[in-house]
Amino acid sequence: MRLHVNIYNKEDFAAMRRAGNLAARTLDFITPKVMHGCNTAQLDKLCESFIRSHNAIPAPLNYRGFPKATCISVNHIVCHGIPSETKVLHEGDIANIDITVILNGWHGDASRMFWVGKKIPIAAQRLTKITYESLMAGIDAARPGNTLGDIGAAIQNKAETQHTSVVRDFCGHGIGRKFHEPPNVLHYGKKGEGLPVQKGMIFTIEPMINNGRAEVKILQDGWTAVTRDRKLSAQFEHTIGIGEQGAEIFTSSPKGWHHPPYTQQ
Ligand code: MF3
Ligand code: CO
Ligand code: CO
Repeated sequence: MRLHVNIYNKEDFAAMRRAGNLAARTLDFITPKVMHGCNTAQLDKLCESFIRSHNAIPAPLNYRGFPKATCISVNHIVCHGIPSETKVLHEGDIANIDITVILNGWHGDASRMFWVGKKIPIAAQRLTKITYESLMAGIDAARPGNTLGDIGAAIQNKAETQHTSVVRDFCGHGIGRKFHEPPNVLHYGKKGEGLPVQKGMIFTIEPMINNGRAEVKILQDGWTAVTRDRKLSAQFEHTIGIGEQGAEIFTSSPKGWHHPPYTQQ
């Protein structure tokens, strides 16, 4: 199969900066609203209104039949959790909210973990921290002179040296005018292997890290991915653009709410 990786110019980067910033601001906006007793459909609706009020569209809605505006994945749900009135957040839960906006035709894709309440099990806190560190290690390796394998290896090394596992079934992706485009950005790999990272590339890095085994299964709804062993999973995602010196993060939190605990949550 032919693999064409887009190389984006300065104007494209400016547009992606705006789309990424709106995704990040949507996550900032929802942060103080994530609390025990609320259901994930409420959070989804709030995010959808925020996105639309900024003249953007939530990309997941109707994407390959996905029924909601956001993905919200709680505890052992790895990704693609479907917001639902029956999914109520409880004290001690950990949840990922994944936002993708389309602003002026360009996609911004980001997700963060949230802690529900103040009594988070130590194992959940530790997994959240390792997952964030894994994403940032991947972003650090995302620079010209390196390969996609260097990114995967950096993530895998962070996770596995701390006795957690990297989900293999989902990957990061090129992004721009399309939600998902080449290249696939694996969250595991070998140094020096795979596509060279080049200035002008734009892609996401979005490792899913499990406290137990890496294996996942998809529920009957055709979307919800859960850990097979029902142990906790966590994920963070940024959209980045490759510059001469390294990666620019398009989806960084304007409020500085990079990982929990968030001061306003
Ligand atoms: N936002 C997810 C990603 O990071 C994709 C969600 S696809 C959907 O790539 F259909 F579930 F929205
Ligand atoms: Co993504
Ligand atoms: Co996403």
